[in-house]
Amino acid sequence: MTATDLEVVQESIYDHPKYYDLVFGADCAAEVNFILACAKRYATGKVRKLFEPACGTGRLLVSLAKQGYEVAGIDLNPKAVAFSNQRMRRGGFPESAWEADMSDFTTRKRYDVAFNTINSFRHLHTEKQALGHLRSMGQCIRKGGLYLLGVHLTPTTANPSETESWSARRGNLAVNTHMWTIDRNKRTRIERFGIRFDIHTPSRSWRIEDVLVLRSYTAPQMAKLIAAAEVWECVETFDFHYEIDEPVEVDAACEDVVYVLRKR
Ligand SMILES: C[S@@+](CC[C@H](N)C(=O)[O-])C[C@H]1O[C@@H](n2cnc3c(N)ncnc32)[C@H](O)[C@@H]1O
Repeated sequence: MTATDLEVVQESIYDHPKYYDLVFGADCAAEVNFILACAKRYATGKVRKLFEPACGTGRLLVSLAKQGYEVAGIDLNPKAVAFSNQRMRRGGFPESAWEADMSDFTTRKRYDVAFNTINSFRHLHTEKQALGHLRSMGQCIRKGGLYLLGVHLTPTTANPSETESWSARRGNLAVNTHMWTIDRNKRTRIERFGIRFDIHTPSRSWRIEDVLVLRSYTAPQMAKLIAAAEVWECVETFDFHYEIDEPVEVDAACEDVVYVLRKR
């Protein structure tokens, strides 16, 4: 069967947590180690309670719960929340995710460290939503606690990467993923990306096609936003290699950046 023979559905990839998890779950250990290393190095006081806005399938929450941390998360997608809660239950932990919009939410508890590692923040399409998010996170995190915010920036001295492909396999399930740029509007800072999952099992091959709409940030736009929230001090920056001993300096050529923000 050729790729063009595949049965195609136009659906949100986030409505398919099982495939999403296989495609994006590979880097879990590196992310978990990095989150905990940042907590140890940059947070003041003890770190016991962790929070993830846009937690998706809960892949990071459950890994951190297994290490003894109390975890919680929110996500806009009910299927992702249900998947995350089911996974927590199966691991013997309390259900800890609930549906909420990360641009405007409050939590009853205060958490020590929060993380948002793979670009989910760019799903917020306006400055108002982005500021609302940083301020909501300020309410959620205690003083001296951290917010680790991972963002794919738009470089201003180099051309941004336009396509990406990768594959993931678990048992009889294989998912080939391709992502490409549809358009970038410099004025509105809204970018659209096509993404498809080609899913192969012994009994069926099919394709999910989706369009991701993301807001773009250059390094100065991101710095301005963080300052405008008046909640966070940026104490360090890293790239997506997650090497705790190799911080990076954010410059005009940088693409993948994790901001280590500490609550004032
Ligand atoms: C790229 S996934 C990341 C999931 C998870 N953080 C991870 O690392 O696997 C982006 C997630 O953001 C969620 N999302 C998008 N907009 C949101 C919003 N306004 N509030 C909360 N979650 C949102 C989507 O439902 C999706 O689960």
